[in-house]
Amino acid sequence: MFDQLYQTLRTRVLNRLLSPGTRLPSSRKLAQQLNVARNTVIAAYEQLIAEGYLESKSGSGTFVTEELPEAWFQAEAQSHSPPKPIQNIALSNYAEAIRDENVRKNGSNQGFTVGVPDLKGFPARLWNKVSSSIPHAGLTELMGFQYPQGLPELQEVITDYVRSSRAVRCESDQVVITQGAQQALDLCARLLLNPGDPAAMENPGYTGARRALHATGAHVTALPVDEHGVMVSALEQLDPPPKLVYVTPAHHYPLGSVMSLQRRTRLLNWAATHNSWILEDDYDSEYHYQNRPLASLQGLCKNSRVIYIGSFSKVLFPALRLGYTILPKELTNVFTQAKMEHSGETPVHIQATTAAFIQQGYFSKHLKRMRVLYAEKLECMLKACEKLTPWCKIHTHGAGMHLVIEFTAELCEKSVYNQLVKQKVYCSKLSRYYLEEPVKSGLVLGFANSSEEEIRTKVEQIASTIKLAART
Ligand SMILES: Cc1ncc(COP(=O)(O)O)c(C=O)c1O
Repeated sequence: MFDQLYQTLRTRVLNRLLSPGTRLPSSRKLAQQLNVARNTVIAAYEQLIAEGYLESKSGSGTFVTEELPEAWFQAEAQSHSPPKPIQNIALSNYAEAIRDENVRKNGSNQGFTVGVPDLKGFPARLWNKVSSSIPHAGLTELMGFQYPQGLPELQEVITDYVRSSRAVRCESDQVVITQGAQQALDLCARLLLNPGDPAAMENPGYTGARRALHATGAHVTALPVDEHGVMVSALEQLDPPPKLVYVTPAHHYPLGSVMSLQRRTRLLNWAATHNSWILEDDYDSEYHYQNRPLASLQGLCKNSRVIYIGSFSKVLFPALRLGYTILPKELTNVFTQAKMEHSGETPVHIQATTAAFIQQGYFSKHLKRMRVLYAEKLECMLKACEKLTPWCKIHTHGAGMHLVIEFTAELCEKSVYNQLVKQKVYCSKLSRYYLEEPVKSGLVLGFANSSEEEIRTKVEQIASTIKLAART
């Protein structure tokens, strides 16, 4: 009884149901009201007085303490047992679609985690030097809200870069800086699709794009992919025609094929006929080790129906959260407005550092080094993966930072994957990239952040795991 009374009074004080200064009934009266022993009330009052929730004023009675410091309320939050779990939370369709995905955990850059560049190979000291060389006067100017579309210096260097390396046709006022390519995908989807609208994307395809499209409530059709990229013939049969199609023509994600020129022209003709938008995600076109990548779709397109999306996540580092979109002039304003509503400006000091890093020649030097390094790592991967060929087909097109091994033998993808996670071999399941029932199963292995020695060891672990799984 003591406990119950003590907790009730304490909670009432903490929740301010009994406000500071309130006079409590005498112990005799409360005992009568509650039909409990007077000693119980006295004990509860004394405990609360000792803890400072109540105070006794001689001759006038017991009162709620006038000034309960904030820290007491915090202490309450810490000392109490955890709140009861909330049952039956009604989530949106968007939340339902993502709730079971594993959020990346600390340390998940290791192993064959997909999408992580060689972090140790990044010239962090140079980056810091460039960052601290931004002049003070300039720094103050960078603190306000004045570059919603992006820092002009960065827009300029990106324009030069995509024109020369990707044959993108643009002026710098068509460049909008975003929080990674992901924000660009998300905003394009929101701006161009309404619930129920038809959209389409490669299948398998990038999960981030899938989520961005689904989040709008669009009806997303899965387009098959072969060694020439997305199969435009499947697109041509769709009625109604999708309003927007997402593709990764330079290096299909995740299987790796490069979209042929014939497919590119066919896709652009289809888009022109139907007034549809193409989202060209050029996430890692910098890493082609045998041939130069084909020019961008955007550069081939004559009627501005292609929106080009680029990212610094692979060529610098992912935590930078810096990407860019090259939009037709008619869309830049509304896109910038949406970006401001979504996240406000992209941190301007980061933009200034990136622009200076590129202007001072460090970016191209870093890229050249990484291209050589990743080509060597890919070679090492391919050699190591030779031992997997009895059970797997290796998908590689001499590009990128990851490799797909498709299971050709009867293997349970989930159990192989779980076994590998136990051994700290982090990678992705191929099936997770499918919009519908997966057609292939296997593993996606990001190799850029592993040393050659790690590559050999981890592939050895994969081989043993697969061998065992194939036997059982
Ligand atoms: C195909 C593809 N597109 C876009 C992105 C998103 O890049 P960002 O980190 O710039 O948001 C990724 C990230 O891994 C990706 O793999």
